[in-house]
Amino acid sequence: MDKPLAKPASTPVKAPVNAAVGKDDEKYIPAIDLGEYFSPSTPESREKLAQKFSWRRGYEGLGEQHANDLHQTDLLPDQKEGFFVGKELPLGQVGFARGPNIWPPELAETEFRRPVMEYYDHLMRLGLKIMEVLAYLKLLRYSEHKFADARIFGSVQHTDYGGLTILLQQPGADGFELWHAATQQWIELPAIEDKFVINLGDMVQRWTGGLYKSNLHRVINKNGGERYSVG
Ligand SMILES: [Fe+2]
Repeated sequence: MDKPLAKPASTPVKAPVNAAVGKDDEKYIPAIDLGEYFSPSTPESREKLAQKFSWRRGYEGLGEQHANDLHQTDLLPDQKEGFFVGKELPLGQVGFARGPNIWPPELAETEFRRPVMEYYDHLMRLGLKIMEVLAYLKLLRYSEHKFADARIFGSVQHTDYGGLTILLQQPGADGFELWHAATQQWIELPAIEDKFVINLGDMVQRWTGGLYKSNLHRVINKNGGERYSVG
């Protein structure tokens, strides 16, 4: 076992939870009574309710999470409970961590569901602002492929390292190729007017534990001239 965690030398500084979430230019503090939700008198029914569904919403029981790192495999499950909430979606749109929220029926709408969703909406807006800082646009011009050297590509095979790439290609200027692992071959994607190619990056693959793949792709511009794309 690695060395145990040292006790903090001083009292940790408490982060102001309201500092970053603006509501009409005012500081906003969510009024959610977590003690009421995590009351020890009702968790069993909530556990059963959550287990009926597969999309990771609602109650998570004590010890269900085990957030240790790979180097400390002898540590025990976390002593915490949780409640997962996300965008409210109908049953027809169920997917990985997506679907209807699972609300505790005994708590009043105004006391729990409404303030939780209000805070969720604020965090969504904050998240989009943070993503704006990370987002960028790249304008690309590919030279004509000369077939002079087998090591030269317009864009050599790679996966995108970020979150999402939204790629718009010059209509008719094909050249984008996607590696199809199941059949071990490159698939040519046609460059169609008004159609985006959406690449999931390495970050999304990490976030989903490998469920969504960051696909290998490359560009070979065989059009006999230049090729433009933006993404
Ligand atoms: Fe790429």
